[in-house]
Amino acid sequence: MAFIKLKNITYTYPLAKEPALRNMSCELERGKFYGVIGENAGGKTTFCNLLRGLIPHFYRGELEGEMTIDGQEIRNIDVDILSTQIGYIFQNPFTQISGVKKTVFEEIALGMENLGVPKEEIIQQVIEIAELVKIEDLLQKDPNQLSGGQRQKVAFASIIAMDTDVFVIDEPTSQLDPQGTESIFEIIDKLKKQAKTIILVEHKIDLVAEYADELIVIGQGEILAKGDVHQVLSDFSLQTRGVMFPQAALLSKALSEKGFDFPNIPVTKSECIQMLKERMR
Ligand SMILES: Nc1ncnc2c1ncn2[C@@H]1O[C@H](COP(=O)(O)OP(=O)(O)O)[C@@H](O)[C@H]1O
Ligand SMILES: [Mg+2]
Repeated sequence: MAFIKLKNITYTYPLAKEPALRNMSCELERGKFYGVIGENAGGKTTFCNLLRGLIPHFYRGELEGEMTIDGQEIRNIDVDILSTQIGYIFQNPFTQISGVKKTVFEEIALGMENLGVPKEEIIQQVIEIAELVKIEDLLQKDPNQLSGGQRQKVAFASIIAMDTDVFVIDEPTSQLDPQGTESIFEIIDKLKKQAKTIILVEHKIDLVAEYADELIVIGQGEILAKGDVHQVLSDFSLQTRGVMFPQAALLSKALSEKGFDFPNIPVTKSECIQMLKERMR
């Protein structure tokens, strides 16, 4: 059974002239990794706000259509309970930091504290997660003194500390260098192997294509495409709708225009190399 279901969802922010989401219908399953891509201002963050119940519980405006999470109508869901089931990393790392804690250590511990996790366990968890996210050196720092990239890592650590079944992650690497980005993807991959459900908004398409199971393409408030990564990235017409394609797919397209056909569209470097090797034989 689908875990999250949207049926004809249209949502308009308060005072906005146009809906930010238009007639969206889709189903998300547990245990899958969904990459959400698409043009700027297309509605990706709004979609995340909906998945986390912030629409309609925090953002008022007008919501039409039906949506359920785990069988419960979104309008009737208790958002505090939902926050213990769905972890959300906001796009802006500056809104994520609580502002009430003096050290990064306490900041990461905050969610567990609220859940009543025993102190010993909290300490051990924070240390483990800090190692995983490679922020051991930040633990005693003031969260308000961090750079954007450091905040992003701390926000990420805080949310995985909550150990929810579902993670909605909105552009977690926008402030990170390639190395930091790679390590975030490695951690997301670990979460995936623990059968977590992941919904990740991310522009770095080469990495998304490598790790995600499915892609959801959002543009002008609509779902333009949804499906298996290979299936979605075989449709090059999406290029005209603001979708970036992986290098491997673009290379195969350029080569097939020169008469060098691929059996199907490669989306990662290693797939591309494999296909080229087979072709050369
Ligand atoms: N709080 C808000 N109030 C009014 N309009 C908003 C708000 N947040 C976003 N929007 C509008 O909704 C549309 C979708 O935005 P957003 O979901 O942030 O897109 P994306 O994350 O894909 O860049 C945009 O036109 C944006 O201006
Ligand atoms: Mg956004």
